[in-house]
Amino acid sequence: MSFSDEIFPEVERYLEDNASTEPDILKKLRRETYQKTTQPHMISGYTQGRFLSILSHMLQPKNILEIGTFTGYATLCMAEGLAEGGKIYTLDKNEDLAYLPEKYFQQSEYASQIEFILGDAKEEIAKLEVIFDMIFIDADKENYPKYIELIKPKLRKGGIILIDNVLWYGKVVEDNAKDKSTQQIKMVNKLVTEDADFENVILPLRDGIHLIRKK
Ligand SMILES: C[S@@+](CC[C@H](N)C(=O)[O-])C[C@H]1O[C@@H](n2cnc3c(N)ncnc32)[C@H](O)[C@@H]1O
Repeated sequence: MSFSDEIFPEVERYLEDNASTEPDILKKLRRETYQKTTQPHMISGYTQGRFLSILSHMLQPKNILEIGTFTGYATLCMAEGLAEGGKIYTLDKNEDLAYLPEKYFQQSEYASQIEFILGDAKEEIAKLEVIFDMIFIDADKENYPKYIELIKPKLRKGGIILIDNVLWYGKVVEDNAKDKSTQQIKMVNKLVTEDADFENVILPLRDGIHLIRKK
């Protein structure tokens, strides 16, 4: 569920009906996510998944980083566009749920190209000695500004960062929204906009995706 799902459910359905069909493995993963997890709404939506896949195909990344695996839906979408021999590193701290992405990663045609890392993202990012072409930030909103600081040196020039949920159900434009997540999301949006090393635009897709290119 997202900002746009709530306000325009028919439009959201229309968008889904007019996007490419998601692979069968993703259908199964979505179904199992809704059956087995307590917060299934955290999964990337259908339209967002197809968007991530197309963008990845356009970039043909050698290395992708995802912060916030959950059940692995977006991981598999982005893996679709990896360059030959390319790799996607995906981080999550939730050990209880790890069996689900692990199962689907093993079943997928990208099994050998996915490195699933269990641990706190702040610590794990620091350990990665990899230069990335594409980075998807989709974890704890309170740490979004920290993630930008940590990943900026690990993103190649011309590389792309995507940050999910940057409209935060519309709270970013509410004057009285004082919760930590909203504040940190507003901070990261401002930080990126004011950083001369970045070119950026927020796409009103689902709950808002900040699309950022490192100059
Ligand atoms: C919105 S879900 C990710 C959804 C997934 N990217 C997708 O598109 O289906 C957020 C995930 O971030 C993980 N997470 C939250 N804080 C984290 C942290 N500090 N380090 C690593 N993972 C974290 C949660 O366990 C959760 O699975």
